[in-house]
Amino acid sequence: MLIVVDHPLVKVHIATLRHKDTGVDQFRHTLTAISRLVAYPVLEELEVQAIEVPTPLAMAQGFRLTKEPILVPVLRAGLGMVEGFRDVIPSAVVSHLGMYRDHATLKPVRYYTNFPDRKGDHPFLLLDPMLATGGSAVDALNYLKENGARNIRLVSVIAAPEGVQQVEALHGDVPIYTAQLDDHLNENGYIIPGLGDAGDRQFGTL
Ligand code: PRP
Ligand code: URA
Repeated sequence: MLIVVDHPLVKVHIATLRHKDTGVDQFRHTLTAISRLVAYPVLEELEVQAIEVPTPLAMAQGFRLTKEPILVPVLRAGLGMVEGFRDVIPSAVVSHLGMYRDHATLKPVRYYTNFPDRKGDHPFLLLDPMLATGGSAVDALNYLKENGARNIRLVSVIAAPEGVQQVEALHGDVPIYTAQLDDHLNENGYIIPGLGDAGDRQFGTL
C-alpha cells in the first residue's frame, strides 16, 4: 500500500530539496522539516495503553505507548530523517543500517547492521529518503524480517514507480509512505526529476 503524504508544507519543502542550488546546510534542514511533518501520519496508528495520571486535583485517564518504535535509518541518506522523527518521538530507539548501491550493478551492498536486542515485536520505521529501483529497500526489509521484525513501515521522501512496484511485489505487507511519487528512473537508476544523490547533497561529497 502506497501512502503519499499530501501536506502543503511538504510540497513547498520538496521544491527546495529538488533545487540544484540548494546548499548542504539548507538541504539538511529541509529534509529534517519534511521528516517531522511526515512522522505524524506515519505514527498515527501507534498502539497506546491506558494509564492513570495524578493531576494536582484528581486522577485522570492518560495513555502511554505500548511499544516504543525503532527508527532504522539507511546510511547515509536516511540519517537526515532521524532528527525530524526524533523531534516527534524522542524515545524512539535508533538502529542504523549501513548499505550502499553498487554504481555498476545498482545492487545494494550491506556493510553495517545493529538490530536491537529482543525488540522484534516493536514497530519498525525504515527511513531512506530515496526509493529508486527498490533494491536497497527490499534488502533492508529482508534483513529486518530475518531478524524478527513483524511490524514495519517504509518511509521515503521521493519514490519512483519502479521502486514502489518492487517493494509491493516482494513485501506487500509493508506500507510505503512517501512525500512525493516521481515519474521514472533514468538509465543510471536515478529518480527523474528527483533531487540527485541524497547522500552527497546532505554531506557535501559531490
Ligand atoms: C541511495 C538511497 C538508497 C538507495 C536507493 O543510497 O539513500 O539507499 O540509493 O536506491 P535503490 O532504490 O535503487 O536501491 P546510496 O547507494 O547512494 O548510498 P549513500 O546514501 O551512502 O550515498
Ligand atoms: N539514490 C539517490 O540518492 N538518488 C536517486 O535518484 C536514486 C538513488
